[in-house]
Amino acid sequence: MVCSKILWHVGVLVLLSSCIVAAYGGNFHQDFDLIWGGNKAKVFNGGQLLSLSLDKESGSGFQSKKEYLFGRIDMQLKLVAGNSAGTVTAYYLSSQGPTHDEIDFEFLGNVTGEPYILHTNVFAQGKGGREQQFYLWFDPTKNFHTYSIIWNPQHIVFMVDNTPIREFRNAESLGVPYPKNQPMRIYSSLWNADDWATRGGLIKTDWTKAPFIAYYRNFNAQTATSKGQYSNQAWQNQQLDASSRRRLRWVQRNFMIYNYCTDHKRFPQGFPPECRR
Ligand SMILES: *[C@@H]1O[C@H](CO)[C@@H](O)[C@H](O)[C@H]1NC(C)=O
Repeated sequence: MVCSKILWHVGVLVLLSSCIVAAYGGNFHQDFDLIWGGNKAKVFNGGQLLSLSLDKESGSGFQSKKEYLFGRIDMQLKLVAGNSAGTVTAYYLSSQGPTHDEIDFEFLGNVTGEPYILHTNVFAQGKGGREQQFYLWFDPTKNFHTYSIIWNPQHIVFMVDNTPIREFRNAESLGVPYPKNQPMRIYSSLWNADDWATRGGLIKTDWTKAPFIAYYRNFNAQTATSKGQYSNQAWQNQQLDASSRRRLRWVQRNFMIYNYCTDHKRFPQGFPPECRR
């Protein structure tokens, strides 16, 4: 915010580069705790790079030190390459307790050359069941890609490389609980889920390929201040603009493979209220 104001008025290149550095100030040593898997979770390069690994003994995971109530959270991930069938890399926001809120990305691995599934879900007050699943338009194991969550009182937007793939709008006016009171931490874990992850559990993890490794970098969180004030940042915009909506439709038309809102078998008595808008 300060940076963009300065840039607006001055427009000096030197300032620009210092602002970009500030925008990616995330450091895994400072911002996260390694909470599972002992030395299977590792931080490298002075805090710039993190890896999780999974072998037959266990997976691994980390969580943010801070809790967030609204904001835009970006992380770059490079997923388990090669035969990743049976593995799941979960990357999500969650509060604590039996009526917790949660915003999920889960990457379901596959055999070499077959597509990952990006699974998404939203829990509000302990209730989830709002799955949408996607293929990606690139191989997520070749390079880092940016996975973002924009969360404000009006909506939750899931983004991949700045392209919105899903919008969950606040539907409290229809009686649907919305995550807005419980601060959430960022979590990620890499674990074995070969009872369901790949082709519904048909394909099992090939442990001869272990350890399986996923990489993280360029964490960035833009959030409300501790006083609950918002600086003037783009994530608070209530609406997706026209071009974002077009890209959202493009993803949903071409890459969405499951949507709870169109699963007639699952909801024979009618879809949840938030699906009707
Ligand atoms: C794995 O590949 C198969 C075959 O292409 C596909 O049906 C499935 O959706 C892919 N992804 C997962 C996670 O099962």
